[in-house]
Amino acid sequence: MYLGLDLGTSGLKGVVIDDAQGIVAEATAPLTVSRPHEGWSEQSPAYWIVAAEAVLNAIPSELRRAIRGVGLSGQMHGAVLLNGADDVLRPCILWNDTRAHAEAAELDADPKFRALTGNIIFPGFTAPKLLWVRHHEPALFTKVAKVLLPKDYLRLWLTGDHVAEMSDAAGTSWLDTGKRDWSDDLLTATGLDRSAMPRLVEGSAQSGTLRPELADRFGLPKGVIIAGGAGDNAAAGIGVGVVKAGQAFVSLGTSGVLFAANDGYRPDPATAVHTFCHALPGKWHQMGVILAATDALNWFAGIAEAEARDLTEGLGGLKAPGKARFLPYLGGERTPLNDAAIRGAFIGLEHDTDRVAATRAVLEGVTFAIRDCRDALAATGTKIDRLMAVGGGSKSDYWLSAIATALGTPVSVPVAGDYGGAFGAARLAIMAATGAGAEVATPPAIAKTIDPVAVLTGAFDEGHARYRAAASAIKGLT
Ligand code: XUL
Repeated sequence: MYLGLDLGTSGLKGVVIDDAQGIVAEATAPLTVSRPHEGWSEQSPAYWIVAAEAVLNAIPSELRRAIRGVGLSGQMHGAVLLNGADDVLRPCILWNDTRAHAEAAELDADPKFRALTGNIIFPGFTAPKLLWVRHHEPALFTKVAKVLLPKDYLRLWLTGDHVAEMSDAAGTSWLDTGKRDWSDDLLTATGLDRSAMPRLVEGSAQSGTLRPELADRFGLPKGVIIAGGAGDNAAAGIGVGVVKAGQAFVSLGTSGVLFAANDGYRPDPATAVHTFCHALPGKWHQMGVILAATDALNWFAGIAEAEARDLTEGLGGLKAPGKARFLPYLGGERTPLNDAAIRGAFIGLEHDTDRVAATRAVLEGVTFAIRDCRDALAATGTKIDRLMAVGGGSKSDYWLSAIATALGTPVSVPVAGDYGGAFGAARLAIMAATGAGAEVATPPAIAKTIDPVAVLTGAFDEGHARYRAAASAIKGLT
């Protein structure tokens, strides 16, 4: 048995798989985000441990006894700051926190950052957050002995070691992404050095073993191997078998991601595409990231006082985009805008814009944002011919049909199951514990493929053009 733990933004999920990769147990524990100021997004690492304990306790004890390896996946880019005694110095500043926009612009203006990391320095990435702490919480900054990514804090609890892996490390803005090593130059530029960084391993390699006291407490065998694991997107890539050039998936979770595996390192920061290490040695991937996907739908469901599922069910077959337009920039946007200040908007509202029309506008807005990501990936030379869909939003056929039509690409849905970060992390645990490689990461069986609706292609092209015009028009309006 192998356990995958995915530390998401809204919950921590555990998946246990057997040697044949069948899911034999699943458990989740909820997490909440604190937003004490505009643009801030924080979580207390102590709650992650509480959530991990709840998930471990929810796994039947006979399965826990049979676990040979654990893999970790998690929300990327967060800054967990520890002192020399491994005490947490402040709440973790999360991936969708944009307070460090000025610091990000400062680092981004230094050409060595894009040249070495292969990416724009986005406000949500880790290095600008440390510069923000240095500027705004200088006394606390002097106490920082280690900076860990969220899932690597869970690893510290599990193993007692400070270790990171390549895919998540690539989202810090401190990694030389082509060389797969920390960059001393980039660390110096934020007032840090290598001593503040965890040791690096590949995602499929062993990162340590379970602490004996946790093995006793939760009834796991002694010496269980903890794999490097991956950032949640690379882990989902392993989960859906997107490991070779030509393979891609769209993830409709809190954030939205269009992810393509690459055969080599092909950065193109000008496009706002993210180019990160994949979770397997010698592999990289690219992705376009939008900050609010299901987050946008859930926001609308909240103000409509309805369940998101009830809003999307019953929309019927795909229709041409309506007059109402929605821009999903609730917390700024990454790809392709790199604009932390931009905010969302509904425009084109009319007397007869009802809840259904507004729901469709929200789904279309996120769809067009994903199309922007596709166009950005295409500008780097990465072509996507077909896509797999994962994440909570992929339960809506209407949404997938809109995406297939807007991108002109068939979208496949895997058979019922869970192919997200937790499953991918469990696969990485198999690799770390048995020495197996990429062959473990097979694509899932496909339940259905949703084709573009050819008669609506023109309407969606036009809708996308109107969306782009609206996005340009609201730039600078806050
Ligand atoms: C990726 C990103 C998000 C988080 C969400 O760059 O910021 O997808 O990983 O968990």
